[in-house]
Amino acid sequence: MKIGITGADGTIGTVLRNELSEQHELKSFTLEENLELGSTKIDLSRSTEVFGKFSGLDALIHLAADPSPNALWESVQQNNIEATYNVFNECVNAGISKIVFASTNHTQHGDTLLTTTETLDPSKNKILSLSDPTNPDSLYAVSKLFGENLGKYFSEKYGIQFVGLRIGWVVKGNDPTIMRGTLSEDYMRAMYLSHRDCVHAFERALGVDKKFLLAYAISNNTRKVFELADTIDALDYHPVDDAETFF
Ligand SMILES: NC(=O)c1ccc[n+]([C@@H]2O[C@H](COP(=O)([O-])OP(=O)(O)OC[C@H]3O[C@@H](n4cnc5c(N)ncnc54)[C@H](O)[C@@H]3O)[C@@H](O)[C@H]2O)c1
Repeated sequence: MKIGITGADGTIGTVLRNELSEQHELKSFTLEENLELGSTKIDLSRSTEVFGKFSGLDALIHLAADPSPNALWESVQQNNIEATYNVFNECVNAGISKIVFASTNHTQHGDTLLTTTETLDPSKNKILSLSDPTNPDSLYAVSKLFGENLGKYFSEKYGIQFVGLRIGWVVKGNDPTIMRGTLSEDYMRAMYLSHRDCVHAFERALGVDKKFLLAYAISNNTRKVFELADTIDALDYHPVDDAETFF
């Protein structure tokens, strides 16, 4: 498969590039010039820059965004909403058959948070499933719901396959204990996504033959607050890690 990856130099992009490059031909897109990656430099919020850039690709993994749940409207509007529209629109123009979109746990974290978007209240004993209503905790989360809905609309209108992964928490060093003793520890223990489970989730998203699918991408955490059964079933996703084994 010839796969484009936006935000290819970021945390998740680096994890995916390292593992997917053996079986697939990858094309990296980055905001800043990156000679090491040989990437195409592109500001995805500018439609004129995106035009024509995806031709020849079979699939597109859209990671580029402002990933902060504290992002302000100007950045969310530019890097998450306008950029996502430009990317999906160009996928249709280029005849790409599959989009995999990096959505987020924050689309439902409004039901589980303690005080801030990066804290979790375990005493709420909430277990959420994909069929539960969304409850975005931030403008960032609202922008990811925009992406999921745009994916749904484009899958219906143009027949492009779309998978939105509601990702938990991926960290550079793969070690969730960096949050030990902080206010975010409970949140990390629930939302942790290891690098190998992350790669597995994206591989399954690339391979699955479904018009539209939303799925959770978290490890098999003992303290998870997302019910994984639907995702295991629909995506054939079988995470092997558990944040608890690190703590
Ligand atoms: N890391 C996580 O735990 C996590 C959890 C849930 C969702 N996500 C989502 O996964 C994606 C990747 O996350 P990450 O942790 O690798 O983030 P990251 O910040 O490391 O990487 C994002 C990349 O997007 C690029 N980018 C931003 N705006 C752009 C624009 N206008 N044009 C082109 N490129 C642009 C940045 O340069 C950066 O390299 C994001 O969409 C994020 O919201 C991440």
